[in-house]
Amino acid sequence: MRLHGKVAIITGAATGIGNAIAQAYVKEGAKVVIADVKGAEDAAAKFGHDTALGVVTDVSSPESTKAMAEAALKHFGKIDVLVNNAGIFTGLNYVPLENISVADWDKLYAVNVKGPWLCTSAVSHAMRAGGGGRIINIASVIAHIGAPFMLHYVSSKGAVAAMTRAMAREFAVTKSKITVNAISPGYTHSANAVANTAQHEQFEGVSASMRAIDRPQVPEDIAGAALWLASDEASYVNGQNIVVDGGIYMSL
Ligand SMILES: NC(=O)c1ccc[n+]([C@@H]2O[C@H](COP(=O)([O-])OP(=O)(O)OC[C@H]3O[C@@H](n4cnc5c(N)ncnc54)[C@H](O)[C@@H]3O)[C@@H](O)[C@H]2O)c1
Repeated sequence: MRLHGKVAIITGAATGIGNAIAQAYVKEGAKVVIADVKGAEDAAAKFGHDTALGVVTDVSSPESTKAMAEAALKHFGKIDVLVNNAGIFTGLNYVPLENISVADWDKLYAVNVKGPWLCTSAVSHAMRAGGGGRIINIASVIAHIGAPFMLHYVSSKGAVAAMTRAMAREFAVTKSKITVNAISPGYTHSANAVANTAQHEQFEGVSASMRAIDRPQVPEDIAGAALWLASDEASYVNGQNIVVDGGIYMSL
């Protein structure tokens, strides 16, 4: 049991990649907090009350993220791991950069960029008090390779990657024993992504032509890296951005 005795908050874990990470953590002995703007309680109920707590959370709200951390502490007594997974990806309007509405830009940044900052701020005191912790941010391979007609999304994930390094450095100089790493998935067949048929076919087509593994990426493919980063095995890994995309992006 690689996460025996650990308590992990996973945002956006009612479905998709976050839910796959929650399942992997529970399998390895963790207690999990499913923090999602919708479906949190139902998703937690599937794990059972002793194992999972569902907390309706809007990661873009300071009050809501504080309440999320308080609920986790009240129920489980500590916070060891935070996975900043909640994000706006599916259902986006993909348009030329001149046509992105300011409202869409602001909404996306509120969730994808402000969200991880607020959630991290909400848990960092408890992690420090507990002797340290692990923060795992879900970025995207798209920040490495770029993509047309989604400037708000691509740049938001670039911000997540930069935030990961800045947080790792800041927690180090403040002697917090909190590590911060990112995972950059490729196009992943989460239920919400697949449901948008036209977009799904387009993204899968482009991804399939670039991948070095001959099968689509599924949410469970990200769970392994998320599990490792939360485990003792990754205690000396900090400020990294691990690309899990079947070889779309290959760095030097
Ligand atoms: N699916 C992909 O191809 C892919 C690729 C790279 C990165 N990602 C990233 O992975 C993460 C999960 O993606 P997914 O495909 O599982 O998405 P998804 O849409 O299936 O799930 C996202 C979850 O986040 C929740 N959420 C949205 N706004 C929220 C808010 N304000 N507060 C709390 N929860 C909120 C949703 O309710 C949902 O449960 C996202 O950050 C996404 O950007 C996805």
